[in-house]
Amino acid sequence: MTTPVEETLVLVKPDGVARNLTGEILRRIEAKGYQLVDIRLVEADLELLSQHYAEHQGKPFYEPLIEFMQSGPIVAIRVAGERVIEGFRSLAGTTDPTTAAPGTIRGDLGRDWGLKVQQNLVHGSDSPESAARELALWFG
Ligand code: TYD
Ligand code: MG
Repeated sequence: MTTPVEETLVLVKPDGVARNLTGEILRRIEAKGYQLVDIRLVEADLELLSQHYAEHQGKPFYEPLIEFMQSGPIVAIRVAGERVIEGFRSLAGTTDPTTAAPGTIRGDLGRDWGLKVQQNLVHGSDSPESAARELALWFG
């Protein structure tokens, strides 16, 4: 039985790019069998980021998050695969790298010493609706 091929938006956040982890993150995506459909290096502006993180506006971590996302280049990747939306979230691990499971991107590569939760290396869309919306924003 096959499941439908989906597309998701993956971002290597500024901490991941600055720490030269883009290749390692791409390696994990490819090793899982997902396809890289499109990729670009982006210096995201306030307009793009406020739309991307619209669901979090007003939360206490919102302003620092938006500032952090403007601190350096981001690698945006369009990734395709069977159930890739849920699958990449599983590869990434839970939001806080301190407690993300070993074997996940955040669990293996995230650092907790002196860093904030926002510095968790990657973003992955969390639903088909989010994926469609976010892919249009970053690749539209
Ligand atoms: P969220 O969408 O909840 O997490 P995820 O990236 O796992 O989908 O939050 C968006 C980003 O906001 C998250 O990657 C890191 C940051 N963040 C904080 O800095 N503090 C927090 O308490 C939360 C929930 C998120
Ligand atoms: Mg999210």
